[in-house]
Amino acid sequence: MPSLSESRHPSLLEVVPVLPVVVLERLSDAVPVARALVAGGLPAIELTLRTPVALDAIRAIADEVPEILVGAGTVVAPGQAKEAADAGAGFLVSPGCTPTLLGAMADTGLPFLPGTATVSEALAVLEAGYASMKFFPAEASGGVDYLRSVASPVPTARFCPTGGITAASAPTYLALPNVGCVGGSWLTPAAVLDSGDWSRVEALARAAAGLR
Ligand code: 3PG
Repeated sequence: MPSLSESRHPSLLEVVPVLPVVVLERLSDAVPVARALVAGGLPAIELTLRTPVALDAIRAIADEVPEILVGAGTVVAPGQAKEAADAGAGFLVSPGCTPTLLGAMADTGLPFLPGTATVSEALAVLEAGYASMKFFPAEASGGVDYLRSVASPVPTARFCPTGGITAASAPTYLALPNVGCVGGSWLTPAAVLDSGDWSRVEALARAAAGLR
């Protein structure tokens, strides 16, 4: 197993101010969504492993849109880490974290954001050698108040809050010293994906890209 250290990778938290969290029902949407995000100035996408097409979508984006960093989200079982890496994922994101899941994500050699929602979970991730983590579900777990509260007692933890964040609330999160980026699905709402309105995705991405 590779050593549990993220020093080999620049933090994912610095790549984009807003990490688009995408749930794709149709494989054919993968490449146009990725291109729209890049055109809007967001060269990263978290493709959630929640639909049957997810791994193929990661593969398609990795093959056809090299300008974007495509990662796998909703990694909840250890085996999914390797599946995502084999499909071409460049990073992994999990909504929560167990020692086994952390080890499986580390084994891929990819950068990853393990999910935490409490101080104890954040401390466990720090003990394992990782300072960057997802805070999920952000709004339901205390949101901005939680992050402000942990900044002083747990100063080394840096977060990508995700879950319930909107275009309106994102700037408040991004202003916090322990937040590197936020995640959210508001750039790719189901209705917009259904309609194939890629210019709308591009416009939402452009607005989000301007937040940092
Ligand atoms: C995730 O998987 O990170 C969340 O489902 C994204 O949350 P949101 O849909 O509330 O942005």
